[in-house]
Amino acid sequence: MSFNSTIPLTESTLSGKALDFYQDLSWLQLIATITVIVLSYDQIMYQIRKGSIAGPRFKVWPIIGPFLESLDPKFEEYKSKWDSGPLSCVSIFHKFVVIASERDLARKILASSKYVKPCVVDVAVKILRPTNWVFLDGKAHTDYRRALNGLFSQKALEIYIPVQEKYMDLYLEKFISFDSPQKFFPEFRELLCAISLRTFCGDYITEEQIKLIADNYFRITAALELVNFPIIIPYSKTWYGKKIADDTMKIFEACAGMSKKFIEEGGKPACVMDEWIHLMKDAREKQTDDPDMKLLVREFSNREISEAIFTFLFASQDASSSLACWLFQIVADRPDVAAKVREEQLRVRNQDPSKKLSLEMINEMTYTNNVVKETLRYRPPVLMVPYVVKKNFPVTDTYTAPKGAMIIPTLYPALHDPEVYPDPESFKPERWENATTQMLNRNWLVFGTGPHVCLGKNYVLMTFTSMLGKYLMNSELTHHVTPLSEEIKVFATIFPKDDLILEWKKRDPLKN
Ligand code: HEM
Repeated sequence: MSFNSTIPLTESTLSGKALDFYQDLSWLQLIATITVIVLSYDQIMYQIRKGSIAGPRFKVWPIIGPFLESLDPKFEEYKSKWDSGPLSCVSIFHKFVVIASERDLARKILASSKYVKPCVVDVAVKILRPTNWVFLDGKAHTDYRRALNGLFSQKALEIYIPVQEKYMDLYLEKFISFDSPQKFFPEFRELLCAISLRTFCGDYITEEQIKLIADNYFRITAALELVNFPIIIPYSKTWYGKKIADDTMKIFEACAGMSKKFIEEGGKPACVMDEWIHLMKDAREKQTDDPDMKLLVREFSNREISEAIFTFLFASQDASSSLACWLFQIVADRPDVAAKVREEQLRVRNQDPSKKLSLEMINEMTYTNNVVKETLRYRPPVLMVPYVVKKNFPVTDTYTAPKGAMIIPTLYPALHDPEVYPDPESFKPERWENATTQMLNRNWLVFGTGPHVCLGKNYVLMTFTSMLGKYLMNSELTHHVTPLSEEIKVFATIFPKDDLILEWKKRDPLKN
């Protein structure tokens, strides 16, 4: 049946031309009616879901909402959204998004695994593969995580120090060899990629493989846009992203095979893969009643190990590069801070700068550690963490987030809350000196909180404390300040807009 068959007019009463006009008109009318219904539905649903919280009165751009802005996110736009109210909202393509920009609400959401789970964009499932452990929820997720916790315990972190120090030294040589100022954003991305890959895969991964991954990793970040075409078109951004991820996981799978052979033959663990396989072997042989050990009794396949190791790289690469940029920009700008770090570095080495790093020594670097902590507060790499509402979630007494909505706890506002961190826009490592106050630590949401809290938190603090100390002790940094140095660029995480121009010179560590 055609759309106009119900209308009681015949060809005999109308000329051919008039009929054509009428047919066109009825199609137009139909399209117009459907459009009005869809637009009204979209607006009405927006109003219902919005309730009393802050947000545009109406969806200014019907259906798409602020989609175009989301393609090129600006820090200032995010900030004005956070400032608009403790809970605010937007709607993009009929997807309703609730933003929580107040510290207690952010913490509540992150800890409410009954109501929420991490929100994953479709393309992340394709890139990380649907079988990846990070997509698990509830008990399955908790159990898998317990099996991984041992890889980042103090005992395990100690194992990784020699390989990390070796690559810190190699890159220090490289930075010192530059004879002119350089943009350090790409340098730090490469440094962090090399250190992570050596820590995860030890000597099983080759220099060529590291170079291949470091040179192409940005394609994975670029592929992870919020909204993507549902299928992967050859040679598109997502196609390149998936290809690099698959190639990287293939490399990790081969490394896991070599590590299994090494550990089975009685080798001593020297990297994350070794430690994982060693823990599995231990659990199998000892057969203890320790519940965490029991979870390791099953054999994790090389493929499974490669997928998990890939999540570590994926979770760390952008955030760690962001931290490196802000950290070295700040210490180059603040000679008072650099001098204190240098003094501490010589002290913990008993004035012998050639002393090798150890966990005990790193644990003594309290001031250097406070500089890293304060940088993470002042310029948190991860601004917000998107979650999805599993069932209607009473976020406050007056507002319930609807099932299916995206809910985004924000970390930046919590870390700049003047009630917790007085004078929040100033960089003050001293605020951590007497940081026994629960309040300061409780609201330090840099790594999230709750069941999905960052697995690499202690690893990050250990690596950056030792790296900052070593680099400042052995080099003089000059920051070439530009009008964009303090401006924030958003590229998955945050970076100085001018990509950080530094001059890096060798320094005598014993000089005052
Ligand atoms: C400066 C560096 C880093 C920052 C700021 C950071 C921050 C975060 C944040 C905010 C989350 C989400 C937490 C939540 O939902 O409550 C997270 C999750 C995660 N991070 Fe990190 N991270 C960093 C480095 C690393 C590193 C080096 C690793 C691995 C070695 C890592 C592994 C993970 C993993 C596996 C998760 C997901 C945990 C889960 O879902 O159970 N991160 N990180």
